[in-house]
Amino acid sequence: MQPVLLNDFKRQWSEIGEDVLRAVERVGASGWYVLGEEVRRFETVLAGHWGLAEAVGVASGLDALEIALRALDIQRGDRVLTTPLSAFATTMAIVRLGGVPVFCDTDSNGLLDLDAAESVLAADRSIRFLLPVHLFGQSLDLDRLATLQERFNVGVVEDCAQSVGAEWAGRPTGTVGRLAATSFYPTKNLGAMGDGGAVLTNDAGLAARVRRLRDYGQSAKYRHDEIGWNSRLDELQAAILGEAVLPRLRDWTRRRQEVAATYTAGIHHPGVRLLRPPASATSCEHLFPVAVAKREHFEAHLKACGIATGRHYPILIPDQKAMVGTEFEVKGELSRARELAGHEVSLPIHPQLTEEEIDRVIAAVNEWTVAD
Ligand SMILES: Cc1ncc(COP(=O)(O)O)c(C=O)c1O
Repeated sequence: MQPVLLNDFKRQWSEIGEDVLRAVERVGASGWYVLGEEVRRFETVLAGHWGLAEAVGVASGLDALEIALRALDIQRGDRVLTTPLSAFATTMAIVRLGGVPVFCDTDSNGLLDLDAAESVLAADRSIRFLLPVHLFGQSLDLDRLATLQERFNVGVVEDCAQSVGAEWAGRPTGTVGRLAATSFYPTKNLGAMGDGGAVLTNDAGLAARVRRLRDYGQSAKYRHDEIGWNSRLDELQAAILGEAVLPRLRDWTRRRQEVAATYTAGIHHPGVRLLRPPASATSCEHLFPVAVAKREHFEAHLKACGIATGRHYPILIPDQKAMVGTEFEVKGELSRARELAGHEVSLPIHPQLTEEEIDRVIAAVNEWTVAD
């Protein structure tokens, strides 16, 4: 029996391979490999797709976060409110810039608790930045995010690495903060065949600064106005994304949403809590997280049924070894985040899943016998 994979890149290749090869051929024949016409075209199409004025391609999602924060003039010692439950890159971006991450708890779904965030911001007006994450492909409440940004005058950078296509009441994630950052890591919904990322914004001035920062801080050839990064998106990745992936993204997202709806209707188990978004949110279903009491037992059962699983994320960011000796603050108990770090399991969800595989996942979950 074929295993059900978390991502099936071989099937994806059979779907997109011809388009990818055409893109590669075009770039090869052009003789221009970094920051050229392909990147420019992809940036324009991506911005239009997202509904924002500007997209700037960079080398990774991590770089996108760092460069976005720098574009808002983050200084050493500046404190940035963020979530303890995310990819480590979210916090790494802050730390690499000399900023100080400030963590507060998540809600019961694992996304930053905006009530807790509001209390922290109200109690401490020296916090200058907010770095929320639309985790699992689920949108935070964008109306509340906009209110927090305005009321506390914090620079908001939205981490949209997992949330391309996600919405809150019809509004796309990434459209509230002054800048949004996303990732084209292959497992992402808009995944390249290598690393990549983008910063998105409606602010032309900020976009111009991001363009400078990604390319050694150059304002013109050999004229360096500030210390920047080497974080340029290459032509191959831009061409592949533009030719083979972005044109399929809406259909792929719809397919993910169908899979999620089928799981939601089909999974009924007292020991398995589905972490579904609130009614106002339209998830792009990057991941399908559930919380289970006996995680190892559940994972072993699914493995025996030939079903791969993931954990997002098993260790809270402030508990990571890399944070020992790194300055950070924790506001309040992180009890809900810690609970999920100990109990979350991600089920396979991707556009190439077959109906038979979806049924197998549902049956395997429902048949799980919880150990004593
Ligand atoms: C929420 C989140 N933020 C940031 C990143 C970093 O993106 P990248 O791996 O492209 O640096 C990722 C992806 O790993 C992510 O999931």
